[in-house]
Order: sequence, then structure tokens, then C-alpha cells
Amino acid sequence: QKGSYKHFMLKEIMEQPEVLQNCMRGRLLPDEGVIKMAGIEQHLPRILAARRLIVVACGTSWHAGLVGEYLIETLARVPVEVEYASEFRYRRPILGKDDVFIAISQSGETADTLAALQLAKQKGCLCLGVVNTVGSSISRETDGGIYLHAGPEIGVASTKAFTAQVLTLTMLALKLAGERGELSPDELKAKLHACSRLPNLVRRVLETQSQVVQMARTYRYASNFLYLGRGFSFPVALEGALKLKEISYIHAEGYPAAEMKHGPIALIDAFMPVVVIAPRSDTNYMKLLSNIEEVLARNGSVIAITDEGNCDLDDKCDFVIKMPEVEEFLVPLLAGDCL
Ligand code: M6R
Repeated sequence: QKGSYKHFMLKEIMEQPEVLQNCMRGRLLPDEGVIKMAGIEQHLPRILAARRLIVVACGTSWHAGLVGEYLIETLARVPVEVEYASEFRYRRPILGKDDVFIAISQSGETADTLAALQLAKQKGCLCLGVVNTVGSSISRETDGGIYLHAGPEIGVASTKAFTAQVLTLTMLALKLAGERGELSPDELKAKLHACSRLPNLVRRVLETQSQVVQMARTYRYASNFLYLGRGFSFPVALEGALKLKEISYIHAEGYPAAEMKHGPIALIDAFMPVVVIAPRSDTNYMKLLSNIEEVLARNGSVIAITDEGNCDLDDKCDFVIKMPEVEEFLVPLLAGDCL
């Protein structure tokens, strides 16, 4: 039931603080510096010995997988490859027993992801799932995995499931980082405490988006949008563009911000709004500021997503969406809610 909400998508967006809580419940023990993941615990030796993790998914779930790649490689220093299931299953991938295959799917029924999983299984990979729907085909075919506990997602556009996927991959990255000694026990505890604050921070983001109506009015005739982000936020830019296409029927492209100068910059003028995810915690924040200047120099309209304490952009950009300040690795979980 959608209760007092106009549609399921809005209900599911507003459910995100609770979804994050449910996803962490019983798994995250910040004071002890422990992450429990019952569905993968028995496979941990094989995961830790893996040559690489191969993450396979479609659409939004693929974007979550890309965030996972940044997280797992940065925090746990384990090589990760992310593939579209529809390409992977047909391109005779080179797979072996040393590879760990991870299928990401909200529904657990996406045909290409299921076929890719069956292929990886035949080749002897350990097959894990990051799935929302309990008992779905993908969850039944995997050797183990992590459920999202996001509740049913009725809206066609994935919202809360993306958030839960990113959080699950964040927890997996932290767990592997702890097991591999890439984070000290104290560092791990600090990061787990930071995760445990997420539900309240996301609630704050959702409660403070007073500019949405004004933004929708300003850009209602736009035919194209560009979304830019770097590092952890690059896949969030891709997801933002996908959401705009799917929900508003406006053409949009997501790009790594530095790629703008290699072609898309030619398109920028007063009729091309550009959304830039630019939190100060971004390792390349100064470069993001340069990217914003490049857009402004071509009369582009900038919508910046940054952190609450940052006033650098207030006078430059048409809209500045502010989110609570968090460490760089948690930015996708907050920036994703601002899109
Ligand atoms: O159920 P899945 O996560 O496997 O679905 C994959 C895509 O079809 C899905 O993520 C799609 O891109 C989103 N619903 C778009 O919002």
C-alpha cells in the first residue's frame, strides 16, 4: 500500500532511512568492530583467496556494482571487475575457480544476470548474490550471498534498492578490508560508527530538499542534462542520468567529470543544465571546481551537490543542494538521495 504518498516511487524514496537501518540490523556491530554476514561467512576463505571479484548486473544494479568496485578496491585492495550481464553472458569470458562471481539484482529475476550466473557456475566460480527478493531465481542459484532487506520495490525506477545495494557493498568492502588487515581495528570501528549514523543523515537529506519544485520549474523545458562526478561519485552521476531519463523523459548522460573536456564540452551552453557532485571530501575536489568553472565559462547552468558547510559554490551555481558532510566513501549513499 502506498498510504498517503502519491505514488510508490515517492514512498520508496522516503523509506530509505528505514531501509538502511534494516540492511545494517544484526550485521553491523560498531563497538566491536565486527560485520556479520551470515550468508557469506562460510565462503570467506575462498573470497579472501580470490584472484578477483567479478560483479555482474544490469541497469541501476550495475551502477551500484561500479560503486562497489571503487569501495572494494580502495578499502580492501581486492581487484574487482564490473560487467553488464547482457555482454558478459555472450562474450565467452575467461573464468576460473579462483574467481568469485557476484550477481547484483533487486528482483533476483533479471534474465541476463541469471544466465551470467549460470555460466559462472558452470566454470567453477564461487557464485554469490546481492539480491533483494528472498527466494528469487538468482538467490536460489547462488552458493551464498547478502540480502538487501529493502522490502518490496514496487516503483519501476529503482530507488531504495540502489541505496541498499550500495550500503551492502560498503559493508562487504569494510568486512574484507578488516579481514585483510587493510584497516586497523580502530579504523574499522570508526568507519562502522560512521555507517551507523547514515539513517539519520539520509533522513535529514530527504527533509531538507525545499528547492525541488523550483528546480523542476526552471528546467521543465530542458531537453538534455549532463551529470558529472569523480571517483566514488562517478557511478552516482550515471545513476542520476538514468533516473532523469526514466522518470522525466529528458535525455541525460552521466560522465566522469574529467571526461567532459574530451567531447561533451562542445554541447554546453545556456540550454544544457549540468549536475555536478562536488563534496569537499572528494579527493579531487579542486579539479571538480575547475570542471564547474569550465561549464560556467560556456554559460552552462550548474546544479551542484555538495556538503552543508561548503559556501564555495553558493554564488556561482544556479542551485546548490547540500548534504551532511561525510567521509568520501559514504558520499554515494547521501548524494544518491539528492538526485
Ligand atoms: O532487478 P534488477 O536489479 O536485476 O533489475 C535490473 C535493471 O532492470 C534495473 O536496475 C533498472 O535499471 C532500474 N529499475 C531502473 O530504475
